[in-house]
Amino acid sequence: MTTTDLDQAASALDAADPLARFRDLFVGSESSLVYFDGNSLGRPPRASVERLARFATEQWGGRLIRGWDESWMQLPFVIGDEIGRTAIGAAAGQTVIGDSTTVLIYKLVRAAFDAQRAADPARVEIVVDRDNFPTDRYLVDGIARECGGRVRWIDVDLSAGVTASGLSAVVGPETAVVVLSHVAYRSGHLADAETLTRIAQDAGALVVWDLCHSAGSVPVHSDAWGFDLAVGCTYKYLNGGPGSPAFAYVAERHQERLAQPIQGWMGAADVFAMGPTYRPADGMRRWLSGTPPIVGMLAMQDTLAMIADAGLPAVRAKSIDLTEFAVRTSDELLAPLGVTVASPRDPEQRGGHVTLSHPAMRAVTARLWEQDVIPDYRDPDGLRIGLSPLSTSFAETLAGMRAVRDAVVALG
Ligand SMILES: Cc1ncc(COP(=O)(O)O)c(C=O)c1O
Repeated sequence: MTTTDLDQAASALDAADPLARFRDLFVGSESSLVYFDGNSLGRPPRASVERLARFATEQWGGRLIRGWDESWMQLPFVIGDEIGRTAIGAAAGQTVIGDSTTVLIYKLVRAAFDAQRAADPARVEIVVDRDNFPTDRYLVDGIARECGGRVRWIDVDLSAGVTASGLSAVVGPETAVVVLSHVAYRSGHLADAETLTRIAQDAGALVVWDLCHSAGSVPVHSDAWGFDLAVGCTYKYLNGGPGSPAFAYVAERHQERLAQPIQGWMGAADVFAMGPTYRPADGMRRWLSGTPPIVGMLAMQDTLAMIADAGLPAVRAKSIDLTEFAVRTSDELLAPLGVTVASPRDPEQRGGHVTLSHPAMRAVTARLWEQDVIPDYRDPDGLRIGLSPLSTSFAETLAGMRAVRDAVVALG
């Protein structure tokens, strides 16, 4: 194979990549498999394999039930604070590892809605965009029905996301809560979270941010941007493993005033008093409901350590280089075949993935999976190229983009 400009560019970018050393720390990085889906399920760090085995023998096997008193009861808060410090710009005491993302969004939106309506009965609307992730839309719809509220939809361009003017047009004296994704799951659009938060708050609303596609990839400054509430996945860029539990952020100023709807024993003020009635714990403990999923929250610690080592600005810088390179290769190799970029072209408005659009993409994705090239597919016609900055190389990206081209040629 002749060396092209793209090969030279990929080699130069890999050679200059200050994060290149992290790639070998992931299981499978030595194989020729191309992984473009770290924005859905990140690769496992090698250190996590060892951590999980050690936990099973030493902690679970050795300490048995004593493990709860010795460390596990505190783990949701210890790791939550680490996520706050490393990934989402939150001072200690505001972030906790809890349930699935879906359940945590329910808890936060429901708590916010109840508090808002109690303070002002006119506030009955929950604002969400029509292209937000399905679980967010379904939850909002369910909470509105359950509580006698209303959904107020924002229309968005599927290749972009929620804008300041789009949000300003729908918020007002009837808005209770606004639910937004920082990075849009389909297009990769990166919302201006600080501005959108201010617009919603100026209208008297509380905002719940979905950070699933930004945590660990895009810098988030929850405290500095004045966030009220946020939730994020840990199995994407934080590599926590399949179904690892999500985190919730509740700004300190809201912690005493919000009551969560699933009041279980683990969120009670004195867990082992086992008293006749529920009294919520102070601080973030009240957001817990049942027994914390300890095994599921172990692996993410290894990626958090890597992000702390690399620094989130460097992670973001590589993420931009990777997505820019993917857009460039798409323009050179795929545009002549009719493939278009269905993500923002301005890297400042784009998160860690790029979506490529062509009518054959569903079949292209299926074919690529058989060839160990793994992007994912999202309607309509979208092939998502997820680029995890710690584990993805530029050579891997180029190999994958060439495989996409060959599949589009064969099936398009
Ligand atoms: C943006 C976004 N929000 C919410 C979810 C739901 O997460 P979970 O299935 O862990 O509840 C996902 C899952 O991929 C997501 O990407």
